[in-house]
Amino acid sequence: MKAFVYKGNHELKLEERPRPRLQSPKDAIVRVTLASICSSDLHIKHGAVPKAIPGVILGHEMVGVVEETGTEVSKVRPGDRVTINVETFCGECFYCRRGLVNNCQDPDGGWALGCRIDGGQAEYVRVPYADNGLNRIPDSVTDQQALFTGDILSTGYWAADLAEIKKDDTVVILGAGSTGLCAAMCAALYEPKNLILAEIDCERADFARQLGIPADVVDPQDLKFVISDKTAGRGADSVIEAAGGAGTFDLAWQLARPSGIVCLVAMYEENQILPLPHMYGKNLTFKTGGVHAAHCDRLLRLIADSRLDTTGLITHTFAMEDILEAYDLFEKRLDGVMKIAIEMNK
Ligand SMILES: NC(=O)c1ccc[n+]([C@@H]2O[C@H](COP(=O)([O-])OP(=O)(O)OC[C@H]3O[C@@H](n4cnc5c(N)ncnc54)[C@H](O)[C@@H]3O)[C@@H](O)[C@H]2O)c1
Ligand SMILES: [Zn+2]
Ligand SMILES: [Zn+2]
Repeated sequence: MKAFVYKGNHELKLEERPRPRLQSPKDAIVRVTLASICSSDLHIKHGAVPKAIPGVILGHEMVGVVEETGTEVSKVRPGDRVTINVETFCGECFYCRRGLVNNCQDPDGGWALGCRIDGGQAEYVRVPYADNGLNRIPDSVTDQQALFTGDILSTGYWAADLAEIKKDDTVVILGAGSTGLCAAMCAALYEPKNLILAEIDCERADFARQLGIPADVVDPQDLKFVISDKTAGRGADSVIEAAGGAGTFDLAWQLARPSGIVCLVAMYEENQILPLPHMYGKNLTFKTGGVHAAHCDRLLRLIADSRLDTTGLITHTFAMEDILEAYDLFEKRLDGVMKIAIEMNK
């Protein structure tokens, strides 16, 4: 089968690989129909994900059709159309029982697919703990609509949950990349009084406006004024940092009001400085880390009910043969790209 492989040393390659087989009774094999490219794939390429293993097939954001299931898989059957979760989780350990699935204690727990074990930028993928890692797509939901459920949409939903949004709140999201946009869509479900999305790139700011999310899209330079105006000078009740740009970590906590919540969703490639003496008395709560992608069924229902729609994020579609070209476009942010769908059987 065709598979897109991280070779190490900044090299990626389309290769022929054997089709994966079941390795445990809890595994399933999925025939991938659509896969996407995530900014985390670029972090792997750049050598910024120390756990990524050279030789691994990339891809952790995809949908497909179940081809084969192990004897202990009961939730999905061959022929089911499914989303695939970025995270592998056993469902039984201390963390899984609390919904903290990114911290699953299984050796393959957390983000393993397309990082430590072969992922789904390939014609077929083996999914461990398939009852947890796969979610059936409702008939009324297309593959395109479901594509981001297991990764960036889950991230947006998790980020909005971390922000503890209430109806009177002013919520600020930094960065209108696909993660910030998903966070904005999910934050909007809580109907905060003010939802503000800040994006430095004019083209991306326009893209965000055209998506129809009920948020004010603003230039980061105007943020302090806009927030002050809307909150009688207090600051934002919560800030979701999904930019990971120069200075956005500092901006995030500075924009929050005293006793506000700062959610650090961005994955930094460098250390950040927490100036504790400066923020003493501000009583901020910081929340950090990798998404706990534990609510895919709920997200699929929200999509089926037309309360969430991420299809507008797909700006480009490529055939698997052209995946290198797709990576190049994605990495260089050419041609207004936001997210790319890779079609496997085209
Ligand atoms: N925590 C998790 O589990 C998780 C999951 C998915 C992605 N991420 C991380 O989230 C981050 C965002 O992901 P993405 O795919 O949307 O990336 P992206 O690069 O497409 O988006 C970031 C956006 O922030 C904008 N930006 C940069 N500097 C800015 C500034 N000063 N003010 C306002 N906007 C600014 C950029 O122009 C860009 O549009 C990445 O670091 C990614 O690794 C984390
Ligand atoms: Zn990802
Ligand atoms: Zn577990």
